[in-house]
Amino acid sequence: MINVEEIRKDFPFLERKIGDRTIVYFDNAASTQKPIQVIRAMEEFMKNHYANVHRGLHTLSQEASKLYEEAHEVVAKFINAYSWREVVFVSNTTEALNTIAYGWGLWNISEGDEIVVTIMDHHSNMLPWRLIAQLKKARVKYIDITNNGYLKYEQLDELITEKTKIVAFPIASNVLGTINDAKRIAKRAHEVGAIVVADGAQSVPHITTNVRELDVDFLAFSGHKMLGPTGIGVLWGREDILEEMKPFKVGGDTIKEVTLDSIVWHDLPWRFEAGTPNIIEGIGLAEAVKYLSKIGMENIRKHEEELVKYTLKRFQEFEGIIEYYGPRNPADKTGVIAFNIKGLNHHTVGAALDLFGIAVRTGMHCAHPLHYRLGLKGTVRASYYLYNTFEEVDYFIESLEKIILLKDKFSQQIPSHVCTGT
Ligand code: ALA
Repeated sequence: MINVEEIRKDFPFLERKIGDRTIVYFDNAASTQKPIQVIRAMEEFMKNHYANVHRGLHTLSQEASKLYEEAHEVVAKFINAYSWREVVFVSNTTEALNTIAYGWGLWNISEGDEIVVTIMDHHSNMLPWRLIAQLKKARVKYIDITNNGYLKYEQLDELITEKTKIVAFPIASNVLGTINDAKRIAKRAHEVGAIVVADGAQSVPHITTNVRELDVDFLAFSGHKMLGPTGIGVLWGREDILEEMKPFKVGGDTIKEVTLDSIVWHDLPWRFEAGTPNIIEGIGLAEAVKYLSKIGMENIRKHEEELVKYTLKRFQEFEGIIEYYGPRNPADKTGVIAFNIKGLNHHTVGAALDLFGIAVRTGMHCAHPLHYRLGLKGTVRASYYLYNTFEEVDYFIESLEKIILLKDKFSQQIPSHVCTGT
């Protein structure tokens, strides 16, 4: 197991107070805090090596280019890519998914084709496909879920057919935490020749990722959800597919040569990194990946699973009062727990928890169709990471108990309409 007390020393943010209470940060599915190693690596780069990349022969540009390229290699190794050329740095998961939709989908999907996504997809892996479908007169079909938040795998054969061009799904749900069987989905998709797009935003930071084993064609994830900075994300794609794919954004650094009659695209991955990239953030992401690798993804996974197991056990004390959604078995989910307290609006609960210094997300978490499918107007979402402790979970449970006891007071003080968040 990991030494959480030692890990916490690396995160200056965890000393932050909200009022007179030390922060309990349970909003890791939205974004994570940063270890001092990442902060220092970015600072060191800005202080001593900063210059634009791939544009200068001077020493600094050479140094920056080398470090930026090495950052791609670090990420490639982390996800067991075949080559660093398959790793494209983009700004976040959403941009990666849009790059696939507009770079591959727009050029390869035709009228009458079908795109299969899941009802549990984040909007970022659903809306690009819906727009492409609209543009190309294609049809979007949805894999449903069971009442416990598992995909209905029995629908795969019926929904994925010879007409299917794309199958898109999240490896882990950002609301339910459900870890989906990527291999099973990829197998069926490949049987009919479809391209498989996996949203790894909620899985890559939490479970070991091996793109060779997953057998997907594309994987998207964000740096800021895995201890790195904002503004950097990854689009991984199989090299043969990336070679054939059109760039979504074009401009500086995407080409080898341009004449008025022709364009010769740059080598991978630069073809897809238009304009000056987020160089500093790329350096930060590589440091975050090194940090996670040092702790060990298996250890992080185990720790989160134990935290979930403990929380769900403590939730049993509130039978009929707290309702939570998604798999009952902690082994089947990441460290994400979406729940509601009977008779209290989710926003009210979130704002009340904030009074106790506990940060959670409330609303529909950019997954409206999933909430509508479950008949919910929103949920409170606690999401854990490697620096969270069992003591924090205890404090969270005690705070929920107080909120439940003082339910009427909280709903008067914090009516849901004053809260924001979707
Ligand atoms: N996609 C992030 C979340 O689920 C922002 O909170």
